[in-house]
Amino acid sequence: KLVYVLNGPNLNRLGKREPEIYGSQTLDDIAALLVERGEALGCEIEMRQSNHEGHLVDWLHEAQDESAHAVLLNAGAYTHTSVALLDAIRSISVPVIEVHLSNPHTREPFRHTSWVGQAAKGTIAGFGAQSYLLALEAAAAL
Ligand code: DQA
Repeated sequence: KLVYVLNGPNLNRLGKREPEIYGSQTLDDIAALLVERGEALGCEIEMRQSNHEGHLVDWLHEAQDESAHAVLLNAGAYTHTSVALLDAIRSISVPVIEVHLSNPHTREPFRHTSWVGQAAKGTIAGFGAQSYLLALEAAAAL
């Protein structure tokens, strides 16, 4: 089962970026955890990160073209702004699971709206790096 894990803006700075909110693990650390758990679950992980909205759109289309089993998407701040990502998720049939390290609902009001969440199969948020592993479990079980 091929699982794309797509990460949006500023997530390349995980570990250094507001560690009191996002934790001390880097995106590479999370990738390693996902690959290890993926092996146990029969999932191959395709991990990507970009600070550019259009790359995330292109990769969602690619996940469809590659017949991926699921996509885990942490769109970062684009979660709260991007109609293009909402439309991209609606343009594919691969299920997309929205992932966040923090729980946006406990934070600033502008984080309470998720465009991604309006098209996602489901959302896992608030568990730090563990959010990704929980989302992978959910993806594997789909
Ligand atoms: C985030 C939450 C977003 O509100 C924020 O813009 C991020 C990270 C998270 O994983 O908690 O960049 O997606």
